[in-house]
Amino acid sequence: MASNQQNSASSAEIQLEDHPHQLPDLQELLTRSCTVHAPGTVANLVCGFDVLGLALNNPYDIMTLKIIEEPVVVIHNKDEYNLPEDPQKNVAGVALIAMIEKLDKKFGFDVTIEKKIMPGSGIGSSAASSAGAVVAANALLDNTFSRADLVQMAMLGEKLASGVKHADNIAPCIYGGVTLIRSIHPLDIVSVPAPPLFVTLVHPQIEVRTEDARQILRKQILLKDAIRQWGNIAGLVTGFMKSDYELISRSLEDVIIEPVRSILIPAFSEVKTRSLEAGALGGGISGSGPSIFMLSQTKETALLVEQKMKEVYGDTGIPFHTHVTTVNPEGVKRI
Ligand code: HSE
Repeated sequence: MASNQQNSASSAEIQLEDHPHQLPDLQELLTRSCTVHAPGTVANLVCGFDVLGLALNNPYDIMTLKIIEEPVVVIHNKDEYNLPEDPQKNVAGVALIAMIEKLDKKFGFDVTIEKKIMPGSGIGSSAASSAGAVVAANALLDNTFSRADLVQMAMLGEKLASGVKHADNIAPCIYGGVTLIRSIHPLDIVSVPAPPLFVTLVHPQIEVRTEDARQILRKQILLKDAIRQWGNIAGLVTGFMKSDYELISRSLEDVIIEPVRSILIPAFSEVKTRSLEAGALGGGISGSGPSIFMLSQTKETALLVEQKMKEVYGDTGIPFHTHVTTVNPEGVKRI
């Protein structure tokens, strides 16, 4: 989420690929405008902490960018979330400041953000803001930067929001589909082909800060747990690539992160048990939570899973939202 936190984020720490700086004339650039839909994402995909993620067709943020003469970022929020408009404290702001610096401060950006992905939901709200901003800015600049460059800039927003750079929301948001982040130093992003999947999410209206959800994690793990986890990650990626739903289902298991984080999420095991009984392939915590996601092979199952989630959360008395959606193959999209 866009943040008030003081985690420093600097464009000096990013090394971009070579890119052409042959930009159109400034007067021409000042006439341009770009509106994008920046999708929500599910990071981790259960077993792939920090290395796997997928983009959703819903929800998505709407962002409009224009170029301005002064080399600054001007932010207008068009929603009820009261996120900071100071660009140094806003995830879209820091990503765009990095781009302005890489362009030798020739001009700046005016950004209007209408968030539909609730901040703090675990559905990649902060990533949508920073990724949407840099993709829209790049479109205004005739795509002068590569997608990998954009990921690097957008990750500065994640660092601001959670204290740590991670790309498992940013990469699927920019590339679309399912992505594997094999490494962030150096950046190595792999798009993973996957069969049709339906995604059901429940978002309990409680706050779980990503920074806190990372701090509670164990710093050391047992080798036997690591072996089980990398077996599952390899199984999940293979299952996606072979359209093997049984293998996907078997591999949606997390023996390292979920046992620690799930205690922060009310009714987590009941949602999971009831969803599996309803026919879901599997699922778990979406990103760092509090949302829970489940994957299904058919829309009927995904809707039944939604019904079960509503029943479970209805009994808790905690307000919640649900979404039933599919995997978004293209990521941030110009409209
Ligand atoms: N991989 C990150 C985490 C995603 O789980 O902390 C945060 O959305």
